[in-house]
Amino acid sequence: MLNIILCGAPGSGKGTQSDFIVEKYGLTHLSTGEVLRAEIKAGTPLGKEIDAVISQGHLVSDDKMIALLEHFLDSLPVDCKGVIFDGFPRTVAQAEALAAMLQKRCLTATLIDLMVEEQSLIERMINRGKTSGRADDNLETIQQRLAVFHAQTAPVADYYLEHHNYFAVNGNKSMQQVFAQIDTILQLLQK
Ligand code: AP5
Ligand code: MG
Repeated sequence: MLNIILCGAPGSGKGTQSDFIVEKYGLTHLSTGEVLRAEIKAGTPLGKEIDAVISQGHLVSDDKMIALLEHFLDSLPVDCKGVIFDGFPRTVAQAEALAAMLQKRCLTATLIDLMVEEQSLIERMINRGKTSGRADDNLETIQQRLAVFHAQTAPVADYYLEHHNYFAVNGNKSMQQVFAQIDTILQLLQK
């Protein structure tokens, strides 16, 4: 299985690049943000608990996210070609838990780090906020999400650089140019 962690700041293009990867490589896409937004929309007990957390730009607790991941991995079909983890892990504790969950299943993952300049991130999310309907696409929450990213998620990339497979990608280019860089990495990993 070809398992990819797409890591990057809010608005760095994780969802956009996941769509390109799914189209070319047929991997299974897990966006934890999309899963959580669906829970909120459906009004489930979990959705009610996390609604304010997400709209204020904070992280959902590690124990809830790790339980969600364990359930997701248990539900994968046997013919799964691989997974794109989009938005998980977001803390070093989540990264360690994922490594253990994968190891238990004799799997590994490679982290691709989407590097984008902060001003572009803000512009992209403000722009998307005009139509997305996302409760967290406003300037105040965007700034909070970026602060959380620097404090809690950026260390995940360092953890992968030190302990696992790591590649950095210049995410400031056009969507197609970013995908070309990712495509080169995926072809290398498939060899
Ligand atoms: P999540 O949904 O993962 O949001 P995020 O990480 O803030 O990232 P986004 O989805 O906003 O951006 P993206 O990187 O997918 O970029 P996109 O492709 O859309 O998480 C939301 C919340 O859920 C979190 O804040 C947290 O509360 C909670 N959560 C989720 N996972 C969690 C976890 N593991 N633990 C705890 N809490 C968790 O692109 C953005 C925009 O830019 C789009 O409009 C796109 O068209 C445009 N764009 C993309 N690429 C380019 C390009 N190359 N050039 C120009 N424009 C581009
Ligand atoms: Mg996304």
